[in-house]
Amino acid sequence: MVDPHDEVIPILDFGSQTTQLIARRVRDAGVFSVLVSPSISVEELRAMRPIGIILSGGPSSVYDKGAPTCDKRIFDLGVPVLGICYGMQLAAHLMGGRVDKAEHREFGRASLAIDDHRDLLLGVADKTIAWMSHGDQVQSLGPEFEVLASTPTCVNAAVRSLAGGRRFFGVQFHPEVTHTPFGTDLIRNFVYEICKARGAWRMADFAEDATNRLREKIGDADVVCGLSGGVDSAVAAAMLHKAIGKQLHCVFVDTGLLRSGERTLVETTFRDHFKIDLRVVDAADQFLGDLAGVSDPQEKRRRIGHRFIDVFKEAAKGIRNAEFLAQGTLYPDVIESGHGHSGQAAGIKLHHNVGGLPADLGFKLVEPLRELFKDEVRRLGEVLGLPEQLIWRHPFPGPGLAVRVLGEVTRPKLDLLRACDEILLEEIVAANLYRATSQVFTVLLPVQSVGVMGDGRTYEHCIAVRAVETQDFMTADWSRLPYDLLARVSSRIINEVRGVNRVVYDISSKPPATIEWE
Ligand code: XMP
Repeated sequence: MVDPHDEVIPILDFGSQTTQLIARRVRDAGVFSVLVSPSISVEELRAMRPIGIILSGGPSSVYDKGAPTCDKRIFDLGVPVLGICYGMQLAAHLMGGRVDKAEHREFGRASLAIDDHRDLLLGVADKTIAWMSHGDQVQSLGPEFEVLASTPTCVNAAVRSLAGGRRFFGVQFHPEVTHTPFGTDLIRNFVYEICKARGAWRMADFAEDATNRLREKIGDADVVCGLSGGVDSAVAAAMLHKAIGKQLHCVFVDTGLLRSGERTLVETTFRDHFKIDLRVVDAADQFLGDLAGVSDPQEKRRRIGHRFIDVFKEAAKGIRNAEFLAQGTLYPDVIESGHGHSGQAAGIKLHHNVGGLPADLGFKLVEPLRELFKDEVRRLGEVLGLPEQLIWRHPFPGPGLAVRVLGEVTRPKLDLLRACDEILLEEIVAANLYRATSQVFTVLLPVQSVGVMGDGRTYEHCIAVRAVETQDFMTADWSRLPYDLLARVSSRIINEVRGVNRVVYDISSKPPATIEWE
């Protein structure tokens, strides 16, 4: 079997917001890719035995003082290099070209005319569209550069240099974004035509290889894995189960803040189907006790977080010989928290996850999904045989329904919200919109309003329906749900859930709103 890590394309990350997308595109094309700091030495790069290297875009200008740069010897390593936007400008700058402010800055769609279809642009139409986002341009190329494509205001939109055995390709536009319609073809051309990859990054191979590595790392020790009901911890557990079988012990904390059917899904999947040692801790009384009288959202989160750790610690005590704690950390979390290879894009966002336990619980950490993006985790889940219902679940926040009951959280309010949420989800699934939406839920607002039911006046709760579409949950747009679907949801909630007489639809995007209300 081919080790999927045998073929790797590192990306020197100069800080572009889309660097991660480049890695995803390369992996989608079948080759493993990781982000590395631009300050990586040539020796370190060589040790990775890359089949190609990509230089990402970035917000700097190459002529700025302190602008990030890379070792010029990278171009002489004997492997193809693709520079994207800033990456192309930097390479041109290092190879004797001149980069300057563009006379016409380009942001958005640009018409691209292609003159050379030989390798990088193989199979791409003569005239197409490319997504641009740059203020600087390569004004003059170094010696022995060829122009492959141009736009009306950017002569050097795609270039190649094969001088002295080098294989450098540069594009001023962004092939990694979906707005460049041939972007995937360009990445595939780079990977297969130019780097001559075999394409070993297949989920089934990865699962096999990663399982072997987990087995080696864990030996005969036992592992504790916290399940949250979400896809990440579920896939991490399934993977560990494949690797170490009975040495895996899962803990699921019923906080009393879960959605309807959540606990049953976890129990049937893990205990009944996978036959994993699953310990379900019923801690609803503790959590709800902590939340009594608390309305402040941050205080709610803080109390839930603390209680979660205490409950988990207590449950883990009962598992003898447990040496490792498994976490469902994903690659974007690794990068965004600044622990990745990337120096430049670090610190954008710190993900707070109640299910993410602190490392000082006294265990060694094992993170089977550390190399994967979310969509790859889902594919891995499929390979491992997890039920579709779990794999494609919308995310659910660690603090659960507590941040969807605005104001003080009580058991009756949670029951009411759960019933509304169930109706909304039923209708979304029936309309075949579950996969088309990223997250859909109801929120119990801390207001009561006047209504009329039968002949009587009512003064009851108001429910907000939230549905969003997003790629990465950092920005999101509200879903344009069909009116008749909204009408059905509203009518069912008001008729079926006692205590609700009004339903509103949240039409705010993120930013400036957030997805959750608290
Ligand atoms: P916001 O509300 O910040 O949410 O736009 C972005 C995404 O993160 C989820 N979320 C959380 N997930 N612990 C989590 O595990 C949390 O404390 C938390 N807060 C928000 C939210 O559901 C959405 O998917």
